[in-house]
Amino acid sequence: MKAIRLSLTLAAATTLMLAAAQPAVAAQDPTGGKQTTYPGIPSSSLEKFGGEAGVAVWVDDLFYYILADNRINQIFLTHGKVKRQIALNKELEQMVLGGPVTYEGASMSAAHSDMGITLTQFNAVVEDAYLACDLARTPYTVCNQLIAALAPFERSIVTR
Ligand code: HEM
Repeated sequence: MKAIRLSLTLAAATTLMLAAAQPAVAAQDPTGGKQTTYPGIPSSSLEKFGGEAGVAVWVDDLFYYILADNRINQIFLTHGKVKRQIALNKELEQMVLGGPVTYEGASMSAAHSDMGITLTQFNAVVEDAYLACDLARTPYTVCNQLIAALAPFERSIVTR
């Protein structure tokens, strides 16, 4: 279990480093401009992810892990409207994967600005995202593409 956890942490760290190395569009506040294309995301990605249904299962699994994760669950229980967050994340992740969906929620900076989120807490969500890939049986390559595209959002989310 320890080894699995360590390799997940390393995978998450690698993804974050790779993403940080990319200049690109995704480094901007992603949702403020309702950005619809992301670097490194081929047009076939949503289909490989299992389409809308695949994204829905993955987001449900992500929140299963987040709410069970004692490092961060209090933040979600205190600030979050979890149902709304799940619905908006389904929209956002479909859009990032190239789907014909427009994200209707707040920009990442507006949604997270008053919570004082740390990089450690952000990385906990990244780890939970990888666990969700396993639980949802999402093909690793496309899951990694999604998480790499989300990783630069860190600049808008981490404020402390
Ligand atoms: C790439 C990573 C993340 C993504 C894609 C993401 C996505 C979102 C989305 C779509 C919303 C809904 C915005 C709205 O209500 O209009 C949201 C809100 C929220 N997020 Fe995140 N988030 C991320 C990281 C985090 C982290 C690291 C935390 C805490 C550890 C966090 C905690 C919250 C909370 C508590 C809310 C609810 C805010 C409110 O209702 O006022 N998020 N996030």
